[in-house]
Amino acid sequence: MLAIGLLLSSLFTLGLSKPVAHGLRVHEARSTVPAGFSLVRSADADAVLNLRLGLVSNNVDELIRTLYDVSTPSSANYGQHLLRSEAAAFLAPSFESLQSVNAWLADNNITANTISPAGDWLAIQVPVSQANEMLNADFSVFTHDASGAQSIRTLQYSIPEDLTGHLQLVHPTTTFTQSISPKLPLNTRKLSTSAVRKRQSACGSYVDPACLQDLYGIPTAAATNADPLVVTGYDDEYPNPTDMSNFLSDYRTDVDSSTTWTLEELDGGSYDSSDPGIEADLDVEYTVGLATGVPVYFISVGENADDGVFGFLDTANYVLSNLSDAYVMTTSYGSDESDISTDVFSKLCDAYASLGTAGVSVLFASGDGGVSGSQSSSCTDFVPTFPSGCPYVTSVGATTGTDPETAADFSSGGFSNVFATPSFQTSDVSAYISSLGETYSGLYNTSGRGFPDVSTQGEDFVIGYDGDYYTVDGTSCASPTFASVVALLNDELLSAGKSRLGWLNPWLYSNSDALNDVTSGDNPGCSTNGFNATTGWDPVTGLGTPNYSALKTAAGL
Ligand SMILES: *[C@@H]1O[C@H](CO)[C@@H](O)[C@H](O)[C@H]1NC(C)=O
Ligand SMILES: *[C@@H]1O[C@H](CO)[C@@H](O)[C@H](O)[C@H]1NC(C)=O
Ligand SMILES: *[C@@H]1O[C@H](CO)[C@@H](O)[C@H](O)[C@H]1NC(C)=O
Ligand SMILES: *[C@@H]1O[C@H](CO)[C@@H](O)[C@H](O)[C@H]1NC(C)=O
Ligand SMILES: *[C@@H]1O[C@H](CO)[C@@H](O)[C@H](O)[C@H]1NC(C)=O
Repeated sequence: MLAIGLLLSSLFTLGLSKPVAHGLRVHEARSTVPAGFSLVRSADADAVLNLRLGLVSNNVDELIRTLYDVSTPSSANYGQHLLRSEAAAFLAPSFESLQSVNAWLADNNITANTISPAGDWLAIQVPVSQANEMLNADFSVFTHDASGAQSIRTLQYSIPEDLTGHLQLVHPTTTFTQSISPKLPLNTRKLSTSAVRKRQSACGSYVDPACLQDLYGIPTAAATNADPLVVTGYDDEYPNPTDMSNFLSDYRTDVDSSTTWTLEELDGGSYDSSDPGIEADLDVEYTVGLATGVPVYFISVGENADDGVFGFLDTANYVLSNLSDAYVMTTSYGSDESDISTDVFSKLCDAYASLGTAGVSVLFASGDGGVSGSQSSSCTDFVPTFPSGCPYVTSVGATTGTDPETAADFSSGGFSNVFATPSFQTSDVSAYISSLGETYSGLYNTSGRGFPDVSTQGEDFVIGYDGDYYTVDGTSCASPTFASVVALLNDELLSAGKSRLGWLNPWLYSNSDALNDVTSGDNPGCSTNGFNATTGWDPVTGLGTPNYSALKTAAGL
């Protein structure tokens, strides 16, 4: 220790431009400005940065062990979910970590606010000049070329050596995310009213709630014991109450057309009912309109989300601490895994693990770009999507048609470069990879977590939007649909005095017969035909689509 100090002070006397007070060590770095961004200039010295400090959680191993213990059907503790406060506590930093980080902040006259239920995230405000000095960084203004949006980031930062193992990351620093890339449904088509204003009894030229109820055996009777389902919304997308009531009066004639959602606002989220969003309308119409009798929260996440992952982390913490009555959450937004700092992704995935330990099922749309990522893009190597690579979320892909049900060609699927293949899917993933042989060797990660886990229909969904009817495509259609199935199963479990399903994946993979296996179609991208849907799990449709009565049996009902 002494030697390092001496070395640094002698370097300092030799005229280093910045004093290196504590033995700083580079913590995260990029060698170049990421593609799609340009460096404009150094940031103003007195501009104030809102930085977040992610502290190392003390007990992640025990969190994951507990998550598997309460979520694996063969475990004696299956279904014994913890209270949210107990589940969050695993994420707490050690006393030593908290003390060391606070001492460093105090030395710099900085007071931090705790911004997560477990205390593993702190928020500080510091001028650029001080942040540059404390972190040996060079905070600069960058422009996102496509949108023109400017942000202050640094290509590199350091932390004091004695904080290694205590301070996991400082954000926003080296993460360059564009604004959220919404899974805006693809191919929105306006329909003439006479063509669509007719409830179907089975799937025809478009998909509506009656079609899904018929195809998957989803009950039409209202849930009696259901806890709320959360629909998350980003990017100033709001559902419109008139679109909702029109949709219910035309497509759920058996349901009170005044049925609606409860609004929650987060990170400066606002609400403008006169400005409906296609994604938001779709997501509430296929939860309120399909999970009959299940209360729905719509969370509007605003632009003050500085968590580096579009507000996903703030949303997870909000559900963990403020929406403790909700047990199913669906999100139809995401991006590519490579956009996100591995440290931030890993903290987010731990937050999903803690929700799962408390019995919350977390579902995400897998993405709409086939093997080329969340949206169609040009590529050589296949592009895994975010956050489907986190094993503690259930990733939902898309299908189309009924005779037979076939993979939708946009359904994103593949293998994470961040998270390894988890135990619940090892045999399914290795069977698929061995069936591929050398095909696509080097284009995907053979040791990564495979996704999606399941799928549902995702093309030609009819939605009420802007006072009219449209049909839309996308895995955005599929995640709310599968989430509705889960909420209805939870309702029946609670009525029978049983536990909720919680984190779904170990249960799903040990009951793959309860899903309709989809064995045709593929997900092209990166100038290839992508992966094939095959017998058993595949990285296009996962294990398959829901068979409600078989899932009920699998749940012990
Ligand atoms: C912190 O505040 C004290 C008292 O105002 C001052 O003497 C000291 O220089 C400050 N330290 C830093 C790092 O700003
Ligand atoms: C969430 O709950 C915490 C603690 O219970 C409270 O301090 C905070 O204000 C709540 N957040 C919102 C947005 O209501
Ligand atoms: C492949 O995935 C593993 C995680 O299973 C990761 O450690 C490794 O870095 C990934 N390889 C590449 C080339 O990204
Ligand atoms: C997909 O299936 C087709 C038809 O059976 C076959 O020709 C092709 O090689 C398969 N592709 C992959 C990647 O397995
Ligand atoms: C759903 O599962 C039941 C068994 O629980 C089976 O009888 C039925 O044929 C399945 N439905 C479909 C569409 O496969």
